[in-house]
Amino acid sequence: MERVAVSLLGKSVVAMENFSAEEIRLVLDTAYKMKQIIRRGGDKKLSNLRGKSIVNLFYEPSTRTRTSFELAGKYLGADVVSINSGTSSIVKGESLRDTLRTIEAMGVDAIVMRHKSEGAADFATRAVKPVIINAGDGAHAHPSQALLDLFTIEQRKGRLAGLKVAIVGDILHSRVARSDVYAMTKVGIEVHLAGPKTLLPRFFDFDGVTVHESLDEAITGADVINVLRIQLERQQAGLFPSTREYARVFGINDARLSLAKDDVLILHPGPQNKGLEISSEVTYCEQSAIQEQVQNGVAIRMALLDLTLNGGSAK
Ligand code: NCD
Repeated sequence: MERVAVSLLGKSVVAMENFSAEEIRLVLDTAYKMKQIIRRGGDKKLSNLRGKSIVNLFYEPSTRTRTSFELAGKYLGADVVSINSGTSSIVKGESLRDTLRTIEAMGVDAIVMRHKSEGAADFATRAVKPVIINAGDGAHAHPSQALLDLFTIEQRKGRLAGLKVAIVGDILHSRVARSDVYAMTKVGIEVHLAGPKTLLPRFFDFDGVTVHESLDEAITGADVINVLRIQLERQQAGLFPSTREYARVFGINDARLSLAKDDVLILHPGPQNKGLEISSEVTYCEQSAIQEQVQNGVAIRMALLDLTLNGGSAK
């Protein structure tokens, strides 16, 4: 039987659950080409998305994700407009559906959106026609972050399948953890989750995932540790005794790193609570790829925009 080529043309990117291993491969392969373009210096501007327009609609704060989506669109030659909820008609009470329909009426090709409610991006795919790219919906999903995590791991480790990745901290409120779990298990990574009992959901009970109450158990022999930010803005009070206690029991510091492999790779999606979930020494140590994640974020977002809006024609 003839193999049908994988294509993401016209596909909305809502959650990693909706991606096959082949689609993930296509995004990573495209991101390698995009990264070369970003790094080659000189003129980075391509014409892949010339004539296309993209709106970034952010209802929650963002530094990395919003800026990298904006630059990604611009490097590909698209027109990009960013809307901040604080300075738009959203403050006048306009509903999400009406805001989306207003943006659609202006003829945009894609809407990159971040929203505090789980399901907002999925709702958008049903409300309007442009491609929707989920840049984070509440505690649900953050697919471009999971893809950039995979990309960073593969670049540093040379492979994905068979690696042991520990994801530690506030699993319950983390859309990054959720998207990582789905993306990583699809490519054959062994995932180990650890955090305080109150921040450890039970629903990750599937093949390829082990849930630990002991941090040391989860990171022993790990190839990669992904440290999550404590999501204080999504928590009710009292989920852990105090920040000092959290840092002592679950913080990633030099002493803890010795349990993992010597060449363990450290990831953190940012922004970091320094001294709480991660120590400064770990953030700036040689094995830390936190800065690289940021650059890889631009490459992954270029890949996603090019593949969904243009079918992918990176030269
Ligand atoms: C993450 C997010 O917004 O979900 N940050 C990011 O996109 N770089 C993680 C976080 O806020 O902790």
